[in-house]
Amino acid sequence: MDKKKGVLVSGGGGYIGTHTAVELINAGYEVVIIDNFSNSDESGVKGVREITGKDVPFELVDTCDKEALRKVFEKYEFDTVIHFAAYKAVGESMDQPLKYYQNNLVSFMNIVEMMKEFGRNNVLFSSSATVYGEPETLPVTEESPRQPATSPYGNTKQMAEDILRDCCRAYDSLYGIALRYFNPIGAHPSAMIGELPRGVPNNLVPFITQTAAGIRECLSVFGTDYDTPDGSCLRDFIDIVDLAKAHVAAVDRMTQDKMEGKYEIFNIGTGRPVSVLELITTFEEVNNLKLPYKIVGRRPGDVKAVWADTSKANRVLGWEASRPLGETLKAAWKWEKNIRDME
Ligand code: UD1
Repeated sequence: MDKKKGVLVSGGGGYIGTHTAVELINAGYEVVIIDNFSNSDESGVKGVREITGKDVPFELVDTCDKEALRKVFEKYEFDTVIHFAAYKAVGESMDQPLKYYQNNLVSFMNIVEMMKEFGRNNVLFSSSATVYGEPETLPVTEESPRQPATSPYGNTKQMAEDILRDCCRAYDSLYGIALRYFNPIGAHPSAMIGELPRGVPNNLVPFITQTAAGIRECLSVFGTDYDTPDGSCLRDFIDIVDLAKAHVAAVDRMTQDKMEGKYEIFNIGTGRPVSVLELITTFEEVNNLKLPYKIVGRRPGDVKAVWADTSKANRVLGWEASRPLGETLKAAWKWEKNIRDME
């Protein structure tokens, strides 16, 4: 493995990890995937191998297991780690905070510790727009203040950002980038990889596709009494392949020694607000179907509106989102049909 081209992807069996692994390989990077399959299975890694035609190395490792992680660092000579391995269910994190702090923070600290121990340089952390809470001004820039986290899940994102910032400041060899994702949706156009929610989906698009597939009876729209143009919440829905490509741009920046400081933050979104109702209508139009939905009360904890100012990522990373929402929603539906054997 060429050290500069080597990238360890933790949580590389999951939704964002698989898509990112594919784009990294397409860009000429050598990827090693680790995952403990706590929220994914072999099918994601298989999909990555099929799409790329490469026998991508995989190790079944829990990132919280420091000794197992050390063996991965001994075996492969990557200079960059992208850390996706984390729990992500907001509601569950309210009921089981320790599970979230334990898993999301210990795994990340283990990664950083191994980077330091082995003198590896670049850490890319998968953060979230959740750190902005209910923003005072829109769109949000990277300088917009973070709001106190409203869930342990959100808190682990803020804490991990701070851990990375402090470690990059303290350890000469370490460089870090945090990408704050807005709402990742869709699937690879091949429909060989995509999102695989366990149980009832919490997120909007998997719930929509499962409803269209007849697995859920009816979609609930959580509130149309917000102070927004159509009363439903506004979000910045970012195509998963566009999002994956943002990671490649960030890894390029780190491995080509273009970083201006030791730690940088980028918003990764489209810069365009789309309402929940608009998303539903677009899904129906592009896929030529009717979605059963009803309007219900607000979901506790939801923010009214959040979307990204992406000018920093556009300018500094030379990256911008390009897939139209309709294409993304077609890909989401194609993926759902594929995993349900509907075609
Ligand atoms: C949430 C988290 C975010 C996390 C993301 C991915 C917060 C505030 N947000 O984003 O940190 O990264 O999930 O896990 O912690 N909706 C419906 N019906 C549904 C589902 C959703 O109307 O069945 C609406 C919601 O009210 C919301 C929008 O769709 O307005 C998007 O919801 P969702 O997909 O869950 O994402 P967020 O809550 O924005």
